[in-house]
Amino acid sequence: MVKKRAINIALLGIGTIGSGVARVLTSKKKTLARQAGSPLALTMVVDKDMARHGTLGLDPEIFVTSYKKAIDSDDIDIVIELIGGEYPAYDYIKEALSKGKHVVTANKEVMAKHGTELLSIAQQHHAGLRFEASVGGGIPLISPFQRDLVANDIQAIYAIVNGTTNYILSKMAHDKIDFGVALKQAQKLGYAEANPANDIGGLDAAYKLAILTSLGFDMDVNFDEIYFEGIAKLKSRDFRYAAEFGYAIKLLAIAKRSNSLVEARVHPVLIPAESLLAKVDGVYNAIYVSGDLVGNVLFYGQGAGPSATSSAVIADVINIAQNINTRRDNAPRFVPEKTSGIKPMADIETRYYFRMSVLDQAGVLAQISSIMGSQSISISSVMQQESDPSNRTAEIVIMTHKARESAVQKAMKMLNKLKVVKEISNFIRIEAI
Ligand code: HSE
Repeated sequence: MVKKRAINIALLGIGTIGSGVARVLTSKKKTLARQAGSPLALTMVVDKDMARHGTLGLDPEIFVTSYKKAIDSDDIDIVIELIGGEYPAYDYIKEALSKGKHVVTANKEVMAKHGTELLSIAQQHHAGLRFEASVGGGIPLISPFQRDLVANDIQAIYAIVNGTTNYILSKMAHDKIDFGVALKQAQKLGYAEANPANDIGGLDAAYKLAILTSLGFDMDVNFDEIYFEGIAKLKSRDFRYAAEFGYAIKLLAIAKRSNSLVEARVHPVLIPAESLLAKVDGVYNAIYVSGDLVGNVLFYGQGAGPSATSSAVIADVINIAQNINTRRDNAPRFVPEKTSGIKPMADIETRYYFRMSVLDQAGVLAQISSIMGSQSISISSVMQQESDPSNRTAEIVIMTHKARESAVQKAMKMLNKLKVVKEISNFIRIEAI
Protein backbone atom coordinates (compact mmCIF):
# COMPACT_ATOMS: atom_id res chain seq x y z
CA MET A 1 0.00 0.00 0.00
CA VAL A 2 1.27 3.47 -0.90
CA LYS A 3 1.80 5.55 2.21
CA LYS A 4 -0.15 8.79 1.84
CA ARG A 5 1.52 12.06 2.78
CA ALA A 6 0.34 13.97 5.82
CA ILE A 7 -2.38 16.58 5.37
CA ASN A 8 -0.97 19.87 6.64
CA ILE A 9 -3.16 22.12 8.72
CA ALA A 10 -2.88 25.77 9.70
CA LEU A 11 -4.93 26.90 12.66
CA LEU A 12 -5.96 30.56 12.72
CA GLY A 13 -6.78 31.54 16.29
CA ILE A 14 -5.83 29.57 19.37
CA GLY A 15 -8.31 30.80 21.95
CA THR A 16 -10.59 28.46 23.90
CA ILE A 17 -11.95 26.54 20.90
CA GLY A 18 -8.66 26.65 19.00
CA SER A 19 -6.83 25.18 22.00
CA GLY A 20 -9.43 22.41 22.20
CA VAL A 21 -8.93 21.60 18.52
CA ALA A 22 -5.11 21.66 18.83
CA ARG A 23 -5.34 19.33 21.82
CA VAL A 24 -7.43 16.78 19.88
CA LEU A 25 -5.20 17.00 16.80
CA THR A 26 -2.17 16.16 18.93
CA SER A 27 -3.71 13.66 21.37
CA LYS A 28 -5.81 11.54 18.94
CA LYS A 29 -3.33 11.30 16.09
CA LYS A 30 -3.81 7.58 15.45
CA THR A 31 -7.61 7.61 15.34
CA LEU A 32 -7.70 10.70 13.17
CA ALA A 33 -5.11 9.31 10.72
CA ARG A 34 -7.08 6.08 10.44
CA GLN A 35 -10.29 7.96 9.65
CA ALA A 36 -8.66 10.49 7.32
CA GLY A 37 -6.55 7.98 5.43
CA SER A 38 -3.31 9.80 6.27
CA PRO A 39 -1.84 11.70 9.23
CA LEU A 40 -3.26 15.12 10.06
CA ALA A 41 -0.37 17.43 10.91
CA LEU A 42 -0.83 20.73 12.71
CA THR A 43 2.06 22.53 11.04
CA MET A 44 1.17 26.17 11.67
CA VAL A 45 -0.66 28.16 14.33
CA VAL A 46 -1.42 31.82 13.65
CA ASP A 47 -2.10 33.89 16.73
CA LYS A 48 -0.94 37.04 18.43
CA ASP A 49 -0.54 35.08 21.65
CA MET A 50 2.68 33.14 21.09
CA ALA A 51 2.76 31.93 24.69
CA ARG A 52 0.03 29.31 24.19
CA HIS A 53 2.44 26.67 22.90
CA GLY A 54 3.78 26.13 26.41
CA THR A 55 0.48 25.06 27.97
CA LEU A 56 -0.53 22.99 24.93
CA GLY A 57 2.81 21.23 24.46
CA LEU A 58 3.07 22.44 20.85
CA ASP A 59 6.35 23.08 19.08
CA PRO A 60 7.02 26.86 19.42
CA GLU A 61 8.43 26.81 15.88
CA ILE A 62 4.97 26.33 14.35
CA PHE A 63 3.65 29.58 15.88
CA VAL A 64 3.52 32.60 13.57
CA THR A 65 1.81 35.96 13.92
CA SER A 66 0.94 36.65 10.28
CA TYR A 67 -1.99 34.85 8.67
CA LYS A 68 -0.31 35.47 5.28
CA LYS A 69 2.29 32.84 6.13
CA ALA A 70 -0.46 30.22 6.30
CA ILE A 71 -2.44 31.37 3.31
CA ASP A 72 0.60 31.85 1.07
CA SER A 73 2.32 28.61 2.06
CA ASP A 74 2.19 25.90 -0.61
CA ASP A 75 2.52 23.29 2.13
CA ILE A 76 -0.76 24.06 3.88
CA ASP A 77 -3.75 22.02 2.71
CA ILE A 78 -6.44 23.03 5.20
CA VAL A 79 -6.94 26.29 7.06
CA ILE A 80 -9.04 26.10 10.24
CA GLU A 81 -10.46 29.52 11.08
CA LEU A 82 -11.32 29.92 14.76
CA ILE A 83 -10.75 33.63 15.21
CA GLY A 84 -14.47 34.44 15.38
CA GLY A 85 -16.18 37.73 14.51
CA GLU A 86 -16.76 39.11 11.03
CA TYR A 87 -13.43 40.83 10.35
CA PRO A 88 -10.65 39.94 9.71
CA ALA A 89 -11.94 36.33 9.66
CA TYR A 90 -14.04 36.93 6.52
CA ASP A 91 -11.06 38.36 4.64
CA TYR A 92 -8.79 35.50 5.67
CA ILE A 93 -11.32 32.84 4.64
CA LYS A 94 -11.94 34.54 1.30
CA GLU A 95 -8.24 34.82 0.57
CA ALA A 96 -7.55 31.23 1.57
CA LEU A 97 -10.35 29.90 -0.66
CA SER A 98 -9.24 32.11 -3.55
CA LYS A 99 -5.84 30.44 -3.31
CA GLY A 100 -7.48 27.01 -3.45
CA LYS A 101 -6.99 26.18 0.22
CA HIS A 102 -9.67 24.17 1.96
CA VAL A 103 -11.26 25.98 4.88
CA VAL A 104 -12.99 24.73 8.02
CA THR A 105 -14.65 27.38 10.16
CA ALA A 106 -16.82 27.65 13.25
CA ASN A 107 -17.66 31.25 12.39
CA LYS A 108 -21.45 31.77 12.53
CA GLU A 109 -21.29 35.51 11.86
CA VAL A 110 -19.21 35.14 8.72
CA MET A 111 -21.30 32.24 7.41
CA ALA A 112 -24.57 34.03 8.23
CA LYS A 113 -23.55 37.22 6.43
CA HIS A 114 -21.26 35.96 3.67
CA GLY A 115 -21.97 32.22 3.36
CA THR A 116 -23.29 32.27 -0.20
CA GLU A 117 -20.41 34.37 -1.53
CA LEU A 118 -17.80 32.20 0.20
CA LEU A 119 -19.39 28.93 -0.97
CA SER A 120 -19.38 30.26 -4.48
CA ILE A 121 -15.68 31.24 -4.25
CA ALA A 122 -14.93 27.78 -2.85
CA GLN A 123 -16.79 26.20 -5.77
CA GLN A 124 -14.85 28.25 -8.34
CA HIS A 125 -11.53 27.21 -6.82
CA HIS A 126 -12.43 23.57 -6.12
CA ALA A 127 -11.80 24.20 -2.45
CA GLY A 128 -13.74 22.76 0.48
CA LEU A 129 -15.61 25.10 2.83
CA ARG A 130 -17.09 23.36 5.84
CA PHE A 131 -18.79 24.92 8.84
CA GLU A 132 -20.35 22.16 10.95
CA ALA A 133 -19.29 23.88 14.19
CA SER A 134 -20.99 27.18 13.30
CA VAL A 135 -24.37 26.04 14.65
CA GLY A 136 -25.03 23.82 17.64
CA GLY A 137 -21.38 23.17 18.61
CA GLY A 138 -20.88 19.43 18.43
CA ILE A 139 -24.41 18.54 17.30
CA PRO A 140 -24.35 17.17 13.75
CA LEU A 141 -26.62 19.57 11.87
CA ILE A 142 -25.00 21.10 8.80
CA SER A 143 -24.03 17.74 7.38
CA PRO A 144 -27.50 16.19 7.93
CA PHE A 145 -29.07 19.17 6.13
CA GLN A 146 -26.56 18.84 3.27
CA ARG A 147 -26.82 15.06 2.97
CA ASP A 148 -29.31 13.04 4.95
CA LEU A 149 -32.33 15.34 4.70
CA VAL A 150 -31.89 16.54 1.11
CA ALA A 151 -34.83 14.51 -0.21
CA ASN A 152 -37.18 16.47 2.02
CA ASP A 153 -39.02 19.71 1.57
CA ILE A 154 -38.36 21.21 4.96
CA GLN A 155 -41.53 22.65 6.50
CA ALA A 156 -40.18 24.09 9.72
CA ILE A 157 -37.17 24.45 11.99
CA TYR A 158 -37.67 25.30 15.67
CA ALA A 159 -34.34 25.65 17.40
CA ILE A 160 -32.83 26.35 20.78
CA VAL A 161 -29.39 27.39 19.58
CA ASN A 162 -28.13 29.59 22.37
CA GLY A 163 -27.00 27.83 25.52
CA THR A 164 -26.51 31.01 27.57
CA THR A 165 -30.09 32.16 27.19
CA ASN A 166 -31.50 28.66 27.57
CA TYR A 167 -29.64 28.34 30.86
CA ILE A 168 -31.01 31.70 32.06
CA LEU A 169 -34.58 30.87 31.00
CA SER A 170 -34.41 27.44 32.66
CA LYS A 171 -33.26 29.08 35.89
CA MET A 172 -35.99 31.72 35.73
CA ALA A 173 -38.63 29.03 35.18
CA HIS A 174 -37.49 26.54 37.80
CA ASP A 175 -35.97 28.72 40.52
CA LYS A 176 -38.49 31.56 40.04
CA ILE A 177 -35.74 34.15 39.89
CA ASP A 178 -35.58 37.26 37.75
CA PHE A 179 -33.46 37.77 34.65
CA GLY A 180 -30.63 39.77 36.30
CA VAL A 181 -30.08 37.17 39.03
CA ALA A 182 -30.10 34.28 36.54
CA LEU A 183 -27.63 36.12 34.29
CA LYS A 184 -25.23 36.68 37.20
CA GLN A 185 -25.39 32.97 38.03
CA ALA A 186 -24.67 32.06 34.40
CA GLN A 187 -21.66 34.39 34.38
CA LYS A 188 -20.36 33.00 37.65
CA LEU A 189 -20.50 29.47 36.24
CA GLY A 190 -18.74 30.56 33.05
CA TYR A 191 -21.80 29.87 30.86
CA ALA A 192 -22.32 33.48 29.91
CA GLU A 193 -19.52 35.62 28.60
CA ALA A 194 -18.38 38.76 30.43
CA ASN A 195 -20.15 40.68 27.66
CA PRO A 196 -23.16 38.51 26.88
CA ALA A 197 -24.96 41.14 24.78
CA ASN A 198 -25.08 39.08 21.56
CA ASP A 199 -26.48 36.07 23.39
CA ILE A 200 -29.03 37.94 25.52
CA GLY A 201 -30.15 40.14 22.63
CA GLY A 202 -30.80 37.20 20.28
CA LEU A 203 -28.10 38.12 17.73
CA ASP A 204 -26.09 34.93 18.26
CA ALA A 205 -29.22 32.83 17.64
CA ALA A 206 -30.08 34.96 14.59
CA TYR A 207 -26.69 34.19 12.98
CA LYS A 208 -27.32 30.50 13.53
CA LEU A 209 -30.87 30.77 12.21
CA ALA A 210 -29.62 32.46 9.03
CA ILE A 211 -27.36 29.46 8.40
CA LEU A 212 -30.08 26.91 9.15
CA THR A 213 -32.62 28.77 6.99
CA SER A 214 -30.22 28.91 4.09
CA LEU A 215 -29.56 25.16 4.34
CA GLY A 216 -33.13 24.08 5.09
CA PHE A 217 -34.84 26.21 2.47
CA ASP A 218 -32.07 26.46 -0.18
CA MET A 219 -32.01 30.22 0.14
CA ASP A 220 -29.42 32.93 -0.07
CA VAL A 221 -30.62 34.58 3.13
CA ASN A 222 -30.13 38.29 3.54
CA PHE A 223 -29.15 38.43 7.21
CA ASP A 224 -30.70 41.87 7.65
CA GLU A 225 -34.14 40.39 6.95
CA ILE A 226 -33.97 38.11 9.99
CA TYR A 227 -36.00 39.49 12.87
CA PHE A 228 -34.52 38.99 16.33
CA GLU A 229 -35.28 40.04 19.86
CA GLY A 230 -33.78 38.90 23.14
CA ILE A 231 -34.86 37.77 26.58
CA ALA A 232 -34.14 40.74 28.84
CA LYS A 233 -37.76 41.88 29.04
CA LEU A 234 -38.99 38.58 30.52
CA LYS A 235 -39.99 38.58 34.18
CA SER A 236 -40.32 35.68 36.54
CA ARG A 237 -44.10 36.29 36.67
CA ASP A 238 -44.33 35.61 32.90
CA PHE A 239 -43.07 32.09 33.57
CA ARG A 240 -45.62 31.66 36.35
CA TYR A 241 -48.52 32.81 34.18
CA ALA A 242 -47.29 30.80 31.20
CA ALA A 243 -47.18 27.67 33.38
CA GLU A 244 -50.75 28.30 34.54
CA PHE A 245 -51.84 28.26 30.90
CA GLY A 246 -49.76 25.10 30.25
CA TYR A 247 -46.81 26.74 28.53
CA ALA A 248 -43.03 27.08 28.92
CA ILE A 249 -41.02 30.07 27.65
CA LYS A 250 -38.03 29.51 25.37
CA LEU A 251 -35.91 31.67 23.10
CA LEU A 252 -36.55 30.00 19.76
CA ALA A 253 -35.01 30.46 16.35
CA ILE A 254 -37.88 29.72 14.00
CA ALA A 255 -37.83 29.17 10.24
CA LYS A 256 -40.97 27.93 8.58
CA ARG A 257 -42.56 27.79 5.20
CA SER A 258 -45.43 30.22 4.80
CA ASN A 259 -46.93 29.85 1.31
CA SER A 260 -44.20 30.96 -1.09
CA LEU A 261 -42.19 32.75 1.61
CA VAL A 262 -40.25 31.66 4.70
CA GLU A 263 -40.63 33.10 8.17
CA ALA A 264 -37.27 33.51 9.91
CA ARG A 265 -37.33 35.01 13.38
CA VAL A 266 -35.75 34.77 16.84
CA HIS A 267 -37.69 35.81 19.94
CA PRO A 268 -39.03 34.42 23.21
CA VAL A 269 -41.94 32.07 22.62
CA LEU A 270 -44.60 30.37 24.71
CA ILE A 271 -44.59 26.70 23.71
CA PRO A 272 -46.72 23.88 25.13
CA ALA A 273 -45.15 22.62 28.36
CA GLU A 274 -45.43 19.02 27.18
CA SER A 275 -43.50 19.65 23.92
CA LEU A 276 -40.00 18.16 23.61
CA LEU A 277 -38.35 21.56 23.22
CA ALA A 278 -39.94 22.78 26.47
CA LYS A 279 -38.02 20.04 28.27
CA VAL A 280 -34.61 21.12 26.96
CA ASP A 281 -33.00 22.75 29.96
CA GLY A 282 -29.71 24.36 30.91
CA VAL A 283 -26.99 25.08 28.38
CA TYR A 284 -28.16 22.37 26.00
CA ASN A 285 -29.23 23.08 22.42
CA ALA A 286 -31.98 21.30 20.50
CA ILE A 287 -33.04 21.67 16.90
CA TYR A 288 -36.42 20.33 15.82
CA VAL A 289 -36.81 19.85 12.08
CA SER A 290 -39.97 18.96 10.25
CA GLY A 291 -39.65 17.52 6.73
CA ASP A 292 -42.30 16.24 4.34
CA LEU A 293 -40.75 12.75 4.13
CA VAL A 294 -38.89 12.25 7.39
CA GLY A 295 -41.56 13.76 9.64
CA ASN A 296 -40.16 15.35 12.77
CA VAL A 297 -36.58 14.87 13.93
CA LEU A 298 -34.88 16.33 16.97
CA PHE A 299 -31.15 17.01 17.31
CA TYR A 300 -30.04 17.50 20.91
CA GLY A 301 -26.69 18.05 22.56
CA GLN A 302 -23.99 20.45 23.67
CA GLY A 303 -24.06 23.59 21.61
CA ALA A 304 -20.79 25.04 22.83
CA GLY A 305 -17.52 24.30 24.61
CA PRO A 306 -14.09 23.35 23.29
CA SER A 307 -14.55 19.58 23.39
CA ALA A 308 -17.97 19.41 21.69
CA THR A 309 -17.02 22.07 19.15
CA SER A 310 -13.75 20.33 18.27
CA SER A 311 -15.78 17.19 17.49
CA ALA A 312 -17.47 19.14 14.65
CA VAL A 313 -14.36 21.02 13.49
CA ILE A 314 -12.22 17.91 13.27
CA ALA A 315 -14.94 15.90 11.52
CA ASP A 316 -14.93 18.60 8.83
CA VAL A 317 -11.14 18.36 8.58
CA ILE A 318 -11.32 14.57 8.26
CA ASN A 319 -13.97 14.79 5.55
CA ILE A 320 -11.80 17.14 3.52
CA ALA A 321 -8.72 14.97 4.09
CA GLN A 322 -10.62 11.86 2.95
CA ASN A 323 -11.55 13.62 -0.27
CA ILE A 324 -7.97 14.79 -0.83
CA ASN A 325 -6.73 11.24 -0.29
CA THR A 326 -9.28 9.71 -2.66
CA ARG A 327 -8.87 12.56 -5.18
CA ARG A 328 -12.46 13.69 -4.91
CA ASP A 329 -13.45 17.31 -5.41
CA ASN A 330 -13.96 19.11 -2.11
CA ALA A 331 -15.89 21.98 -3.73
CA PRO A 332 -19.33 22.61 -2.22
CA ARG A 333 -21.89 20.93 -4.47
CA PHE A 334 -24.55 23.49 -3.83
CA VAL A 335 -24.60 27.27 -3.60
CA PRO A 336 -28.01 28.73 -2.68
CA GLU A 337 -29.85 30.96 -5.15
CA LYS A 338 -30.58 34.64 -4.63
CA THR A 339 -34.13 35.11 -3.40
CA SER A 340 -35.99 37.60 -1.30
CA GLY A 341 -38.10 34.95 0.31
CA ILE A 342 -38.20 36.05 3.94
CA LYS A 343 -41.67 37.08 5.08
CA PRO A 344 -41.75 40.57 6.63
CA MET A 345 -42.29 40.36 10.38
CA ALA A 346 -45.38 42.61 10.13
CA ASP A 347 -47.11 39.93 8.03
CA ILE A 348 -46.62 36.90 10.26
CA GLU A 349 -49.64 35.41 11.96
CA THR A 350 -49.43 33.75 15.32
CA ARG A 351 -51.03 33.73 18.75
CA TYR A 352 -50.05 36.25 21.43
CA TYR A 353 -49.75 36.55 25.21
CA PHE A 354 -50.10 40.00 26.79
CA ARG A 355 -49.45 40.95 30.39
CA MET A 356 -50.72 44.36 31.39
CA SER A 357 -51.35 46.47 34.39
CA VAL A 358 -54.81 48.07 34.32
CA LEU A 359 -57.12 50.02 36.60
CA ASP A 360 -59.26 47.59 38.59
CA GLN A 361 -62.66 49.05 37.75
CA ALA A 362 -65.79 48.29 35.76
CA GLY A 363 -65.63 48.44 31.97
CA VAL A 364 -61.87 48.02 31.60
CA LEU A 365 -62.01 44.68 29.84
CA ALA A 366 -64.72 46.00 27.53
CA GLN A 367 -62.46 48.86 26.40
CA ILE A 368 -59.52 46.50 25.84
CA SER A 369 -61.54 43.93 23.92
CA SER A 370 -63.11 46.65 21.80
CA ILE A 371 -59.64 47.76 20.63
CA MET A 372 -58.58 44.16 20.04
CA GLY A 373 -61.79 43.58 18.07
CA SER A 374 -61.21 46.69 15.97
CA GLN A 375 -57.94 45.09 14.80
CA SER A 376 -59.56 41.67 14.18
CA ILE A 377 -57.71 40.19 17.16
CA SER A 378 -59.79 37.55 18.85
CA ILE A 379 -59.18 36.92 22.56
CA SER A 380 -58.99 33.28 23.62
CA SER A 381 -58.64 33.74 27.40
CA VAL A 382 -58.23 36.35 30.09
CA MET A 383 -56.80 35.88 33.56
CA GLN A 384 -56.80 38.42 36.33
CA GLN A 385 -54.31 37.24 38.86
CA GLU A 386 -53.28 39.97 41.21
CA SER A 387 -54.82 43.23 42.21
CA ASP A 388 -53.38 45.94 44.36
CA PRO A 389 -56.18 47.64 46.30
CA SER A 390 -53.84 50.46 47.42
CA ASN A 391 -53.72 51.93 43.92
CA ARG A 392 -56.73 50.11 42.43
CA THR A 393 -54.66 48.34 39.78
CA ALA A 394 -54.81 44.76 38.62
CA GLU A 395 -52.55 42.64 36.47
CA ILE A 396 -54.28 40.84 33.64
CA VAL A 397 -53.01 38.30 31.17
CA ILE A 398 -54.68 37.98 27.79
CA MET A 399 -54.11 35.20 25.28
CA THR A 400 -55.29 35.67 21.72
CA HIS A 401 -56.19 33.43 18.81
CA LYS A 402 -54.05 33.78 15.68
CA ALA A 403 -53.62 37.41 14.71
CA ARG A 404 -51.45 39.40 12.35
CA GLU A 405 -48.33 40.98 13.87
CA SER A 406 -49.04 44.38 12.28
CA ALA A 407 -52.53 44.39 13.85
CA VAL A 408 -51.09 43.45 17.23
CA GLN A 409 -48.53 46.25 17.07
CA LYS A 410 -51.28 48.72 16.15
CA ALA A 411 -53.54 47.47 18.94
CA MET A 412 -50.71 47.90 21.47
CA LYS A 413 -50.27 51.53 20.43
CA MET A 414 -53.99 52.08 20.88
CA LEU A 415 -54.08 50.26 24.22
CA ASN A 416 -51.20 52.37 25.49
CA LYS A 417 -53.35 55.46 24.96
CA LEU A 418 -56.22 54.14 27.10
CA LYS A 419 -56.42 55.83 30.51
CA VAL A 420 -57.36 52.51 32.14
CA VAL A 421 -54.20 50.77 30.85
CA LYS A 422 -51.30 51.74 33.08
CA GLU A 423 -48.74 49.64 31.24
CA ILE A 424 -48.41 46.84 28.70
CA SER A 425 -45.78 45.00 30.68
CA ASN A 426 -44.98 42.30 28.16
CA PHE A 427 -46.15 40.60 25.00
CA ILE A 428 -44.86 37.23 23.88
CA ARG A 429 -45.68 35.25 20.77
CA ILE A 430 -47.07 31.73 21.09
CA GLU A 431 -46.18 28.73 18.90
CA ALA A 432 -48.13 25.50 18.80
CA ILE A 433 -45.14 23.33 17.66
N1 HSE B 1 -22.51 31.87 23.04
C1 HSE B 1 -23.11 30.70 22.45
C2 HSE B 1 -24.16 30.14 23.39
C3 HSE B 1 -22.14 29.61 22.16
O1 HSE B 1 -24.38 30.65 24.49
O2 HSE B 1 -24.78 29.16 23.00
C4 HSE B 1 -21.34 29.81 20.92
O3 HSE B 1 -22.13 29.81 19.78
